[in-house]
Amino acid sequence: MTKRPRTSRRVMDIGKSAIHEMTRLSRDVEDVAFLSWAKPTSGTPDHINQAAISAIQGGLVGGYTETSGLPALREEITRKLRRDNNVDANVAQVMVTVGAIEGLAAAVMAIVDPGDEVILPTPTYSTHIRQVLIASGKPVLVPTLEEEGFVLDMEALRKAITPRTKAVLYCSPSNPTGTVFSEPQLRELADVALEHDLTVITDEAYEYFTFDGHEHFSIASIPEMRKHAVSCYTFTKTYAMTGWRVGYLHADEELIPQITKAHIPFAICAPVVSQYAALAALQGPQDCVARFRDHYRAARDLMCERLDAMPSVFAYQKPHGSYLMFPRIRLAEGRDSATFCKRLLQEAKVSTTPGVAFGPTGEGHLRLSFCVSAEEINKAFDRIEAWVSQGGLRKT
Ligand SMILES: Cc1ncc(COP(=O)(O)O)c(C=O)c1O
Repeated sequence: MTKRPRTSRRVMDIGKSAIHEMTRLSRDVEDVAFLSWAKPTSGTPDHINQAAISAIQGGLVGGYTETSGLPALREEITRKLRRDNNVDANVAQVMVTVGAIEGLAAAVMAIVDPGDEVILPTPTYSTHIRQVLIASGKPVLVPTLEEEGFVLDMEALRKAITPRTKAVLYCSPSNPTGTVFSEPQLRELADVALEHDLTVITDEAYEYFTFDGHEHFSIASIPEMRKHAVSCYTFTKTYAMTGWRVGYLHADEELIPQITKAHIPFAICAPVVSQYAALAALQGPQDCVARFRDHYRAARDLMCERLDAMPSVFAYQKPHGSYLMFPRIRLAEGRDSATFCKRLLQEAKVSTTPGVAFGPTGEGHLRLSFCVSAEEINKAFDRIEAWVSQGGLRKT
């Protein structure tokens, strides 16, 4: 009798996360220059920490909240959605989640039946691909147009639609490319979604980090998309609150009870202390967001300058959002980005993420994070330059 595997086919079919693998390998390298994590390195602003401390001291955080989150927080989120996203939201359309990630996972679970196809413009955040797989859906990867700055290829996207297509899932500003999908492109995507009765699931984690006049556009602001969009947001990036694990989603009120059925078995509710912290984040001063944005823009400029000095090694599209970029490696050795990254780590002590982690069209690229200090960027590039000029790449 053939023995049944102990774990589900669903999880066994999912490969290891290259991002977490690089983090694990980086731990063994002393004094590593770290460009591989999309995690803000600034601390959470103090007024947010203090609000959490007060909530703990006030005995407010020991129980669950409503599964969709604290009413006061949801109310504040609707104000933010109206003000900053031009989305005419009400409280019944908002659910507080365990970061954007759990909101996305719950949305995918609620929308995708086994075998349903979900279109993902790639390269994209690998977790989205895994979320579709976990729901037993079929990710359909549609390459973006790299030479035009990794913008949506609407023609290819239309061609990828089949009778099994259920949804489109994208992030903008993008992890890993830093592309901000433009309003005209997203309006065109909305037309396609309406024409084919698709749901558009969005990851807007980097909504506040756009540069050079590029503006973030929420597809849910198009009134016709009201029943066709599920939009996921987070406090992680905006307020440097990675570890608090709090975000939220917005969807039509008829969809929310269905998404809630997927949210409860994984989370019950978002961490309560974090919900109080999130409330303070929305109600408090917002200058920290502009400060973070200015810092990322300066870091982006520095990283581009350093890349410009190595034109035979890297070619890149300038990112206009997020704090990530996705240069192409021009050397033959870069064709296998996983091996290239490991060598860069072991031989030059620079931690990056292999492009292949973001879908097949990511192969031959590196993802670099610029949410770090100027010193860290300079340290990393000094080492890469020295490694290249000492012939590191030609070693076998
Ligand atoms: C595009 C994108 N979405 C979601 C997340 C995770 O967000 P959260 O911490 O809110 O779950 C990340 C983290 O790197 C990300 O890059």
